Amino acid sequence: MTDKIQAKIIGAAKPRIDGPKKLSGQAMYAADHHLPNMAYAYGVFSTVASGTIDNIDLSAAKKMAGVIDIFHHDHFPDLYRTPSSFAQQNKVDETRLPFEDNKVYYPGQFVALVVADTFANARAAAYRVKVDYSADAEPIATLEQAMARGDKPKPAESANHSRGNPDSAYESSANKLDATYVTPMETHNPMEMHASTAHWENGDLVLYEASQGVIFARNVMAKVFGLAPERVDVRAPFIGSGFGSKLWIWPHAIAAAAASREIGRPVQLVVPRKEMFTTVGHRPPTHQHIRIGADDNGKLTALTQDSINTTSMINTYVENTGSCTKSLYDCENLRVSHATIGANHGTPTSMRAPGAAPGLFALESAMDEMAEQLNMDPLEFRKVNYTERDQSMDLPFSSIHLKEAFDQGAEKFGWAKRNHEVGSMRDGNDVIGWGMAACNWEALKMACDARVSLRADGTAFASSATQDIGTGTYTIVAQAVSAITGIPLDKIEVELGDSSYPSGSLSGGSWATATTLPAIAGAARAAIEELKGYAVAEGAAFAGAKAEDLTFEDGKLSSADGKSVDYTEILKSQKLANADGEAHTPGAPTGEYSFRSFGAHFVEVRWDAGISRLRVSRVVSAIDVGQIINAKTSANQVEGAVAMGIGMALFEATEYDEGSGLPVNNNYAEYLVPVHADQPPDVDVVLLDYPDYKFNEFGARGIGEIGVTGLAAAVANAVHHATGKRIRELPIRLEDLMSA
Ligand code: MOS
Repeated sequence: MTDKIQAKIIGAAKPRIDGPKKLSGQAMYAADHHLPNMAYAYGVFSTVASGTIDNIDLSAAKKMAGVIDIFHHDHFPDLYRTPSSFAQQNKVDETRLPFEDNKVYYPGQFVALVVADTFANARAAAYRVKVDYSADAEPIATLEQAMARGDKPKPAESANHSRGNPDSAYESSANKLDATYVTPMETHNPMEMHASTAHWENGDLVLYEASQGVIFARNVMAKVFGLAPERVDVRAPFIGSGFGSKLWIWPHAIAAAAASREIGRPVQLVVPRKEMFTTVGHRPPTHQHIRIGADDNGKLTALTQDSINTTSMINTYVENTGSCTKSLYDCENLRVSHATIGANHGTPTSMRAPGAAPGLFALESAMDEMAEQLNMDPLEFRKVNYTERDQSMDLPFSSIHLKEAFDQGAEKFGWAKRNHEVGSMRDGNDVIGWGMAACNWEALKMACDARVSLRADGTAFASSATQDIGTGTYTIVAQAVSAITGIPLDKIEVELGDSSYPSGSLSGGSWATATTLPAIAGAARAAIEELKGYAVAEGAAFAGAKAEDLTFEDGKLSSADGKSVDYTEILKSQKLANADGEAHTPGAPTGEYSFRSFGAHFVEVRWDAGISRLRVSRVVSAIDVGQIINAKTSANQVEGAVAMGIGMALFEATEYDEGSGLPVNNNYAEYLVPVHADQPPDVDVVLLDYPDYKFNEFGARGIGEIGVTGLAAAVANAVHHATGKRIRELPIRLEDLMSA
């Protein structure tokens, strides 16, 4: 059993310690590095969805100013096509190497790379590269096209789960719902574009990369270029977010590093915003067929969710929509199944709450529909089916406070005042709709290394090769050091985002907090142990005492007889600059508990039918993610997730033309995301804050993703309550709501 860390700094609402660096422009992002003698690369991207390259005419481009070299499938070094493995920490969603051959699998695929002395010259020349294609007449642009063509979906067995007899139980259920829910392709658009600044020195690679996982990136680059991992250093001290798009290495990084090695100069490559929609992943579209059976008391008797998503023609990516469904409610007869079908898109990837975000749109919409059919309060229907046991794993949840989330959320929102009749609540011209949904996410924890130094100048230093993607990791690492040592936050320096640091975790899966903090705490304790050793050495303040009899608190070492000495004095007396500690912590314990986070969203929409205006006017989100480490950054995560959920509900869809197979809205103007006017003035985040010490000594389960799950369903349910229209396909468009 681990200690429980209950220092006051844990849970405090501390501002981000890296904030001043970002505000003052000192934070260096991947494309901020302009190295001596650096060249700039600009891609040429496929303008057909599928086909082959017949000819690349470089004559005009080569005459352009500043051009150094132009790479393409006939002029590119042979590299190693690494297999993708999460366990080996070299996962990559698109395994095809850039310029591998003359095949085109998706629009926006790299087909050439121009390297020139300046960014402007590289881009100007790239525009002059003329590529002739033989294009397929019938590219697959959408999930509907793929299904209509009759291609056989590929089952995704590893994500599937079945228990009881779901089909026969459904058939004999007293109440049945059978509905299909459709979610669109969505594309992550972090403000910072993907970028690589590559530099070779004596055969070693240094890569400044916009990355959510420097260790994974290092491992992949080492494999691709045939190097020992120590000879690759991937740096990402600051990221302008990622939402999952920066978890793995994409073709641009390999192209930049190869080009740099070929021309013998540093090379910088920024992925243009247009190609941010094509070459660096997306959330694939899904069709989800749900069937729910319930008895007359509202008890679930059967639940099935059969899902299909598009993947690329190159790799298989499964959108695991049933990941929450299989354990969220008590149901003996249940099946979730997944399958993929090829389309001419780049390979999909994880996008914030992969699987769960589209999956809970479907499940939590269906739960609302069934509650309506049963004439039950949708909140009550969920409570009837509440469970504290993960039936898919046959294990109890380590800690579950979903009931409190339901109750506290409902209380804050005023749910008891809901008139369940559709269209019955009005305010002037607005019809008001109230909807709710549960949210859910797995809690994961990986192995992690960290190092902490206590320095003679009164400061401390902590490092691990994880990243801060804007979520506050720098700050919570400093809080963890402070919790163990008592050293104040402003004296703690944190270094993250460099693969040469002790091996740390991806900033993904909501696991960075639960993974990193125990390793940091362990390293801080190890540093204190080393310090105690110095303290009892000959000539030191506690010479002759036993190290294990000393205690360390608030930066002071004390002995039982009341003597107390500041740790800096110990180090100075030994002429040492610092005491160091390192730690390795394992992944989450297995076999006894299912670790998951829970919550509930309550949403109010206002619909003015006269002018077809729909607004989300109020959101209350009650979230149960274990111990909150930083009340400010945690609430920020949920507020941001609510914005993203509103985007999913009402705006976001990456569209492809079904004739040409080309992207339609691959830009910030036409890919709609919520702006300030779309954001409710009132987003109320309730953080339940029940520590989960079965998971780790901090009791924290992580908060990055859960807020985006369920939100779109809560909006759709509120829209139904206001308008009577049941929208099963996202995004909900105004034209869906206009009465015939
Ligand atoms: Mo998240 S989709 O694991 O960055």
